[in-house]
Amino acid sequence: MDKILVTGGCGFIGSHTIVDLVQNGFDVICADNNSRSNEGILNGVEKIINKRIKNYKVDLCIYDDTYAIFQENPGIKGIIHFAAYKAVGESVEKPLMYFDNNLNSLINILKCAEEFNVPHFVFSSSCTVYGNPDSMIVTEDTPQKPAESPYGATKQMGEQIIRDTIKSNSVNAILLRYFNPVGAHPSINIGELPIGKPANLVPAITQTAIGKIPLMNVFGTDYDTRDGSCVRDYIHVCDIAHAHTLALNYLIGNKNTSNCEVFNLGTGNGYTVLEVIAAFEKVSGVQLNYKLGPRRPGDVVAIYANNSKAKTDLGWVPGLGIDVMMDTAWKWELKLKNDENLFTTQIAGLN
Ligand code: WQD
Repeated sequence: MDKILVTGGCGFIGSHTIVDLVQNGFDVICADNNSRSNEGILNGVEKIINKRIKNYKVDLCIYDDTYAIFQENPGIKGIIHFAAYKAVGESVEKPLMYFDNNLNSLINILKCAEEFNVPHFVFSSSCTVYGNPDSMIVTEDTPQKPAESPYGATKQMGEQIIRDTIKSNSVNAILLRYFNPVGAHPSINIGELPIGKPANLVPAITQTAIGKIPLMNVFGTDYDTRDGSCVRDYIHVCDIAHAHTLALNYLIGNKNTSNCEVFNLGTGNGYTVLEVIAAFEKVSGVQLNYKLGPRRPGDVVAIYANNSKAKTDLGWVPGLGIDVMMDTAWKWELKLKNDENLFTTQIAGLN
């Protein structure tokens, strides 16, 4: 079995991707220092795949510790690099922390990929690289506007670092630009674990619905959209996860036409904030406690994906709709409430 290193594999998209990789025949190791994640999520992964994933609890900004992972695991066939800070608001408050962490960890991983002749590299990028685009439906060739946050800038810079680096070595790369990943694995053994008060819409909805947050704000209803609230392309995390498996097989099968290809990962449908809330209320039967508030600085009015390239070239077919996204997100929130010690207990067991 081809061995794949997944960095940030204890995170939301990383853990779901590990499940998909293993279920598609890959051997997976994880590198995650759990600074923004919970190693207990690997217990949920184990329940699904019936296999323990080894996690190297390493700060990838430390080159020697990163190097040691590759020394211990000769023959790594591919790397999927998720590990990064991703909170837009925090990045505005602490830009240097974001540039330091997100770029130095990437540089160390790329150095090791070159040093150990790892042929395939998949990068966790984001639609945030488009900034505030002129047209709301973006293709991979849509010109990038200035990033709206230092977090977005680290994704723009990260893509450039990869493009320039692989011109001088034999690594083949794919950049996957996620739109808005939401939901949870249908087994409800893994899902999103926001740290602190959630900034993102769907965890804010589910935490409000379960009572962890008393009231949710809708940030702006005076935009030039169907109902005045912002439009986004919400995509189920399992559809995102499977795209990583397809991207690796695309590279391993030498189907790539260049050594650095880019793919948008979105459904191609846009939903407004109020439409997402309505979908959640319909699926959960819960009347959400929210109020219409002022705009959030930095928000893009509307953006969603032209995903035809991923469909055509990767054979990717995102099949999980907004109702499944809301249903699995809600069931995961209910599980977290019912097993409030779910992760603290498991972490205790692990240490
Ligand atoms: C979506 C919409 C908010 C919370 C960011 C990153 C992106 C990716 C996903 C990492 C906006 C509105 C939100 C709330 C609200 N992150 N909202 N009330 O900003 O599109 O994307 O997160 O990969 O890279 O840029 O996602 O979920 O924060 O916001 O009204 O309590 O929901 O204003 O219109 P966003 P989001």
